[in-house]
Amino acid sequence: MKNYSKEEVEKIFSNEDLFIKNFNSLTDREKTSFLRKVGKINTQYKNFDIFIESFKSDNENLRFEIIKTLSKITDINLFSFYKKIIYIEKTSDIRREIVSAIGRLRNKKTIQLLIDLIKDDDPNVVLQAIRGLLVFKDDPLVHKELKKLSSHPNEIVKLIIENELTSTDSNKSTNHSEVNPKLKNKIVKGDSLDVLKKIEEDTFHLTFTSPPYYNARDYSIYKSYEDYLKFLEKIFKEVHRTTKEGRFFILNTSPVIVPRFSRNYSSKRYPIPFDIHPFLINMGWEFIDDIVWSKPEASAKNRVGGFLQHKKPLAYKPNATTEMVMVYRKKTTKLIDWNLKQYSKEVINESLVKDEIHKSNLWNIGPSHDKVHSAVFPKELCDRIIKYYSLSGDLVLDPFAGSGTFGNAALERKRNIFLIEKDETYFQDMKKRFNLDNQNTIEFIENFK
Ligand SMILES: C[S@@+](CC[C@H](N)C(=O)[O-])C[C@H]1O[C@@H](n2cnc3c(N)ncnc32)[C@H](O)[C@@H]1O
Repeated sequence: MKNYSKEEVEKIFSNEDLFIKNFNSLTDREKTSFLRKVGKINTQYKNFDIFIESFKSDNENLRFEIIKTLSKITDINLFSFYKKIIYIEKTSDIRREIVSAIGRLRNKKTIQLLIDLIKDDDPNVVLQAIRGLLVFKDDPLVHKELKKLSSHPNEIVKLIIENELTSTDSNKSTNHSEVNPKLKNKIVKGDSLDVLKKIEEDTFHLTFTSPPYYNARDYSIYKSYEDYLKFLEKIFKEVHRTTKEGRFFILNTSPVIVPRFSRNYSSKRYPIPFDIHPFLINMGWEFIDDIVWSKPEASAKNRVGGFLQHKKPLAYKPNATTEMVMVYRKKTTKLIDWNLKQYSKEVINESLVKDEIHKSNLWNIGPSHDKVHSAVFPKELCDRIIKYYSLSGDLVLDPFAGSGTFGNAALERKRNIFLIEKDETYFQDMKKRFNLDNQNTIEFIENFK
């Protein structure tokens, strides 16, 4: 097997005659490996027959490398070759590469073919054709054809068209990093839905919350599971409205179990995170990550005990030692970089995560117990959410504050807090906790207007 070094390949490739002589003597595998070593191309080739001939090979890798190499030679004479092979080639990767090569020609002669290709069945081909056409997006015909893709079935195609053809304000300066002083460091007693309705849109930088469970604890009785989900949907719609562009909503839930009615019935398990997910997506949250909070087995309710005795299949019920921490971002066409650019260098520096970094989405954290509240967040969980998903000085929300663990952890990292809790006992309990910890910097409001 002929194995050329990168230097040899570059020397041979820069001389058309030398290339033809060497390349023709290689096997398909050797040709592939040769082409992979071709770097930048300076030579003007007069004749592309050698590539066109080699493209007849059955070897997909070779065909792919040929197109990759040719795409670096932006010569309009290659267009007729591309035009011929784009409908013959069957492999998606190679077709995408051919369309990319056509786009790189940046020549008006390619427009009609690219317009035909945005009707292709393969979304990869469509996306590459869009890239090629965007160069000519000021041409009325191209603009009209691209606009038609706003109703394309593929979500990425739709997103790109919406972004490229409609958004003109992508760098508009906003008050993104600012915090409404009226809402800074407030703990409000009330129903979250009523309180959030009074708050203007684009207010919060981050929300982290754990909603009441469905019938699993005494403070959370709903008429039906459907009612419960509808209640959460209404609140999370308000959270969405009041969240700033491109910022995060992090939701801690887990399936809950409702005990059986009698020995003649089985207990029922409700998959809360999975049932909430579709309506969060529908209301405009983008799914970002699923973090699994894992607790020591000793802290879980023993469900597997019966099985350990009888060992009969079908009746297996593992102990539930995990909860979901679902990460969503308010849907936007802007990248995270845009969000970060809205802050001063000082704030960015102050917010860099310089302590321990958790590399995987499996977070092992022990549960927390509390004398007053029966379902509190561990502070460690809150601290991770704050450091990874907000910046110093941000305004963070917990609409189901409970004992205020999230608020406490947020203040420690110099974030501003806005907490809502409807239960009188928990609200009074927070008064004690926060006044002890934060020397009256927090205002407690019983009648939020
Ligand atoms: C799972 S607990 C949150 C515990 C909290 N993460 C902590 O660390 O203490 C849910 C809380 O939501 C409160 N809650 C339930 N419905 C509410 C509503 N409509 N508005 C405000 N708070 C509500 C409950 O009283 C309960 O304290």
